[in-house]
Amino acid sequence: MALVEWSDKLSVGVISVDEQHTVLFSLINDLHAAMMKGQARAIVGELLNRLLAYTRNHFSQEEAMLEKVRYPGLPAHRLLHRDLTQKVEDYVARHAKGDLTLSMQLADFLSDWLKTHILNTDQTYGRWLKEQGLKVN
Ligand SMILES: [Fe+2]
Ligand SMILES: [Fe+2]
Repeated sequence: MALVEWSDKLSVGVISVDEQHTVLFSLINDLHAAMMKGQARAIVGELLNRLLAYTRNHFSQEEAMLEKVRYPGLPAHRLLHRDLTQKVEDYVARHAKGDLTLSMQLADFLSDWLKTHILNTDQTYGRWLKEQGLKVN
């Protein structure tokens, strides 16, 4: 069973962002499934690295989009992204050093973080874009 499921309630009204969030959800689900199956450390490490790379990529694309439209909430939003990236980097480093108990916690933590961040932070810019009459895809 998937750990996190996408639903329309999570849409931010920007197609490319929704697509990226869906990919993040499926990467988190892959990580969770690999842990549940007790997959080898190398496989889990590979998934963690893929997740970290995609997370960084998504955050920078989201920030670039918000910079383009001069979104006033960008500095605070950027800090939240930075904080999460740091946490995932720490997890990846600990896993690489042999701490194998972390990935399950990470999958739970990330799915909660992502849902909360989308609902409270990403959807806030979604509403702002709408109020400004800005159409971003
Ligand atoms: Fe965000
Ligand atoms: Fe996002």
